[in-house]
Amino acid sequence: MRILVTGGAGFIGSHIVDLAVSAGHDVAVIDNFWQHGGGRRANLNPKAKLYELDIRDVAARDVFAEFKPEAVSHHAAQHSVAISTRDPLYDADVNVRGLLNIIEAAVQSGTRKIIFASSAATYGTPQYLPIDEKHPQLPLSPYGVTKMVGEHYLRYYAAASGLRSTVFRYGNVYGPRQDPNGEAGVIAIFCGNILGGEPVRIDWDGEQTKDYVFVGDVARANVLALDAADGETFNVGTGIGTSVNALHRGIADSIGRDVPVARAPKRAGDVRTCVFAIDKARSVLGWRPQTDLAQGFATTARFFQASSTASTAQSS
Ligand SMILES: NC(=O)c1ccc[n+]([C@@H]2O[C@H](COP(=O)([O-])OP(=O)(O)OC[C@H]3O[C@@H](n4cnc5c(N)ncnc54)[C@H](O)[C@@H]3O)[C@@H](O)[C@H]2O)c1
Repeated sequence: MRILVTGGAGFIGSHIVDLAVSAGHDVAVIDNFWQHGGGRRANLNPKAKLYELDIRDVAARDVFAEFKPEAVSHHAAQHSVAISTRDPLYDADVNVRGLLNIIEAAVQSGTRKIIFASSAATYGTPQYLPIDEKHPQLPLSPYGVTKMVGEHYLRYYAAASGLRSTVFRYGNVYGPRQDPNGEAGVIAIFCGNILGGEPVRIDWDGEQTKDYVFVGDVARANVLALDAADGETFNVGTGIGTSVNALHRGIADSIGRDVPVARAPKRAGDVRTCVFAIDKARSVLGWRPQTDLAQGFATTARFFQASSTASTAQSS
């Protein structure tokens, strides 16, 4: 199948590209290497064709006309809650207008399907736990609003133009290639801190609990949805909540030494507990997470260790 992955040089998108290429698909990437995003040339699979382009650019239509994707995995986004609160206009421009530009190009070129990276941020404060897909969506940030709006546009286009879609609402995705300098991605940030010899920062009392899912499992859900589950929305997590304190203990255990902590106040808008129900992805998509936190930690820590060794060798 011809698959176009927007944001395919980024953290999650690049793992989807790798899995799709290894499954024998013909893959192209749109990415503009946004300065505050996780897109890196080193993440790019050499077998994927790169179109270096902003998703808001009308030239996206030329990409669709040339590559003729049968499916699009839409992962390019303004991905930060914090940036969305500082600059809601930019957030909406990329996450809504950019998505619409991609949808319009898809409709014009006869693309069958879009897979959309949505978020736990669309739910807001949980009204019950675990959160299932029927939970009300009352986002607390502009980012959560634009992701929710994206879901509604896809529902509209399915009815208006027959463009099929699958929506994935991700929990906290972690793994190799996550940007350790970003404002989210606590596991990558902790790995970066430890390798830099700095203490890890724990906000609030560290008992805030989230659903951490390994990026390889997320990529597998995307590849499964290429030809399944049209019109469906799924939570993608593990169904297991882990506190920041437990993450800290797990990382210290996996590297076999103490990791000092710097305490900080609660961040505005931080949710106390977010744990997903994932039964629907199991029963409808046949997907389940296969990587537990200990394995995921170990793989992630090895990646950051190897990257740090490589950059030290380059600079010496
Ligand atoms: N990481 C998570 O835990 C998480 C959770 C929920 C949802 N998501 C969503 O998953 C998707 C991927 O997130 P990620 O963590 O891999 O982020 P990332 O920053 O690593 O990847 C996003 C990619 O999109 C590219 N991009 C940004 N703006 C662009 C634009 N205007 N035109 C073209 N390319 C652009 C970036 O260069 C980057 O390569 C995003 O849509 C994000 O909102 C991520």
